[in-house]
Amino acid sequence: MSLLPQDSHGCPFLILAPMEGVGDRCFRKAMAAVGGFNEAVRDFLRVPKNAHVESLACQYQADELAPVPLVAQLMGSDVELMGAMACEIQKREAPRIDLNCGCPSNTVTGRGAGSSLLKDPHFLHDVARSLVKATTIPVTIKMRSGYEDISLFRENLLAAQESGARYITLHPRTKVDGYGPPARWDLIAEAKSLLKIPVVGNGDIVTVQHALDMLKMTGCDALMIGRGSIINPFLFHQIRAHFSGIAYQPSWDDLMRYFTTYLKEIPEEMTARVKVNKLKQLLSFIFKGNPTLLEMRPTLLTNQSADPHSFMEFALTLLKKGWY
Ligand SMILES: Cc1cc2nc3c(=O)[nH]c(=O)nc-3n(C[C@H](O)[C@H](O)[C@H](O)COP(=O)(O)O)c2cc1C
Repeated sequence: MSLLPQDSHGCPFLILAPMEGVGDRCFRKAMAAVGGFNEAVRDFLRVPKNAHVESLACQYQADELAPVPLVAQLMGSDVELMGAMACEIQKREAPRIDLNCGCPSNTVTGRGAGSSLLKDPHFLHDVARSLVKATTIPVTIKMRSGYEDISLFRENLLAAQESGARYITLHPRTKVDGYGPPARWDLIAEAKSLLKIPVVGNGDIVTVQHALDMLKMTGCDALMIGRGSIINPFLFHQIRAHFSGIAYQPSWDDLMRYFTTYLKEIPEEMTARVKVNKLKQLLSFIFKGNPTLLEMRPTLLTNQSADPHSFMEFALTLLKKGWY
């Protein structure tokens, strides 16, 4: 059976992207309360040299979003340790394991992991192969188009396929690009024509039309969405609605369910100030979502409330003015 099945209306398999920091457990739980996506990928578990894999693996909880599957993503460059870690993750009942070949952070790339793997297709192959050999669950790879440039793009894709990865997800920017220039969807089309394994398209989908355009321009097998889902938590439902023809209009109650879940999941031990800053970070994305909210974004971000609940009340009064 396909790992990336369409729904009965022909909507492609939809994946919530891993996003370290802003896309943490609070966000994932809030997104799961709203729904619309088939699967989520957890932000990376860093596997440093000398890591104690058993205790590291405890950070991953397969049923966090049940019934929605949560995929574990590993980032590291020690071939043996990565295999051992994959084994631990399988014991924790992960539905699949994803290898991070995209993280641009220099603290990561400095140690040869994340996007650094794209500098050497043979090494990328060996790291991915160690995960495949250590496990019986599907292993997949999430990659950028290159490190400094795209000269090794095709070699990296073929190395990923050769390793036994079941599919790749392509975020078509180089490490050096960061998140700056537009994602090169033409490279997703190129990956699709080169590889036999499926290709998941990712990068710059913020509207339903973007999703449709990416599918049409690239022929990709499934879609992964990151920042677009923070800006609009209902985007997955809206994409699905396009295919089913059944109108979807998020209600104020849906939005409240999203925020209530988010607030409930914020760890108790965080100080009130940190909680408010966390909410500000999330809301600053949502306020990019439409022109009325965008105008009120500075008012939101300069609010001085030190209490998360009163800050949220304030944010809701602004949201009401711009909500659909
Ligand atoms: C704040 C942030 C954190 C991210 N963390 C991860 C990560 O842990 N693992 C990963 O593979 N990609 C990570 N990414 C990349 C996203 O998964 C995605 O590939 C990228 O944002 C492009 O997709 P989008 O335009 O839909 O956001 C991160 C992106 C952002 C903005």
